[in-house]
Amino acid sequence: MSFSIIQHQAHIPPQFIWPDHERPCAEAPPPLDVPPIDLAGFMSGDPEAVANAARLIDQACRRHGFFLVVNHGIDADLIARVHSSTDLFFSMPVAEKEKAMRKPGDHCGYASSFTGRFSSKLPWKETLSFRYSADPNLPDIVQTYFSQTMGEDYSAFGRVLQEYCEAMSGVCLKVMEVLGVSLGVGADCFRDFFVGNESIMRLNYYPPCQQPEVALGTGPHCDPTSLTILHQDQVGGLEVYVDQKWHSITSNPHAFVVNIGDTFMALSNGIYKGCLHRAVVNSAAARRSIAFFLCPKTDKVVSPPQQLLSQGNNPRLYPDFTWPALLEFTQKHYRSDMKTLDAFV
Ligand code: SIN
Ligand code: FE2
Repeated sequence: MSFSIIQHQAHIPPQFIWPDHERPCAEAPPPLDVPPIDLAGFMSGDPEAVANAARLIDQACRRHGFFLVVNHGIDADLIARVHSSTDLFFSMPVAEKEKAMRKPGDHCGYASSFTGRFSSKLPWKETLSFRYSADPNLPDIVQTYFSQTMGEDYSAFGRVLQEYCEAMSGVCLKVMEVLGVSLGVGADCFRDFFVGNESIMRLNYYPPCQQPEVALGTGPHCDPTSLTILHQDQVGGLEVYVDQKWHSITSNPHAFVVNIGDTFMALSNGIYKGCLHRAVVNSAAARRSIAFFLCPKTDKVVSPPQQLLSQGNNPRLYPDFTWPALLEFTQKHYRSDMKTLDAFV
């Protein structure tokens, strides 16, 4: 079954109807206060800009782990090209998209909503996920993946996504510097976990839904990765659970939404929080979001720096683990009502 068929039915199929307690709020939830971090200001080294960025990020990450990054230096035209490539891909016939079909046990490839991962209820969305490598020995991994799975006609498509991943990888390293400063462990503290690593990128496409009040685009979850950098289109739909209630994240085309994932929560010894979030859908318009997931190098042991541990105030919260082990656990055991990291360790 595909969305083009079920969208024309009066009611959505029962697999898409979420239990009462997980359904979207009847009224639009209040916006969350997500501070804008001026990345160019931080990188300029100006002491006031550095202190300001560190203070804002520290407050947000101790509370909920969501913040915006502005003045990030990524060309608006590149972002627009990724959004139009997303539209182009998801408007293709199902058989064409299925050339990149996700294989069982893999987290990359095309997935229709029927390949839902985050819950027993189906998400109202389609996704396309792929690997990006910052290893200089694998310079064109994204482009090569699309040429090989979808055909040479997709080489330009792959090139746009490759370019975007390279840009996101750079933004992630800068955000890691801000996080190192705000945690008081130094700008380069986390660098070795991520330089030359492999990350994941995902294009999310949420078709209009005729019963948005009972459906969800993405069910509630925390990201297992280190950081997620998201660009959502003007439609909006991202929500975050803070202080026992849902809040919306207002869309801002000039900003990336960044959130702390479980792996960075562990690296900060739980000082910085990851937070439950979800995406709602609507009946009027399709929605796109573009997510870049920064992951630690596969051979690195995720273990917080010594300065963040002390016997009294900050005892070690999580034992050592590696990113591949957490990812495998998440894929096998994820439930939307479970704190994955707590269940894993
Ligand atoms: C996600 O967190 O997986 C998706 C969020 C979004 O589409 O806004
Ligand atoms: Fe997420």
